[in-house]
Amino acid sequence: MTRPRPLPRRTPTALGALALTTLGTLALVQAAPSRSASAPDEGAALFKRCAACHTSTGKGVPGTYPPLQADFRQLAASKAGRQYIALAVMRGLMGPLTIEGKSYRSVMPAQADLDDAQVAAVLNHVGTTIAKTGPAFKPLSPAEVASARALGAKLTPAEVARLHQAAGGQ
Ligand code: HEC
Repeated sequence: MTRPRPLPRRTPTALGALALTTLGTLALVQAAPSRSASAPDEGAALFKRCAACHTSTGKGVPGTYPPLQADFRQLAASKAGRQYIALAVMRGLMGPLTIEGKSYRSVMPAQADLDDAQVAAVLNHVGTTIAKTGPAFKPLSPAEVASARALGAKLTPAEVARLHQAAGGQ
């Protein structure tokens, strides 16, 4: 026979402990943070750091910070281009680059603290919400980002920039 247990009423800690012991796994699963690459909120939140340079609309500052628009979606339409945009974020970029008819000789710092899922999330936010022109955008998976990371692990920002043209950049 089970002894009736008094139900703690007022202390949140006691209630939390009760929930954990009685609901066990269920409670733990619900408490686990969601880390889905396609979570639009994460991409939007991460894009704030990009917007500091590329602006919140992704139009950029001509001659200083390139737009994340038609060239971005053009690049995302090929395998080499998808590797290049992922590497631009993970390894950084140092031009000269010609993007949508303007030249850029600046530096983009590597966003080295982002993991594969975060890189995919921010690129997918750009491709689906920020870039409004260019070919249809197919989202990147974290696995695709991981393979670009491995391929480009030794590349300098200048070497990443040199991939632009062959990757279909305009
Ligand atoms: C400190 C400013 C800065 C920040 C922050 C920044 N970028 Fe850039 N980005 C640049 C510059 C500058 C270039 C062009 C490089 C050059 O001039 O050599 C560039 C180029 C790019 C390109 C290449 C575009 C093309 O058409 O070839 C992509 C893609 C890109 N950035 C994405 C991002 C994303 C995504 C983020 C946020 C995670 C981000 N950038 C954050 C400055 C920045």
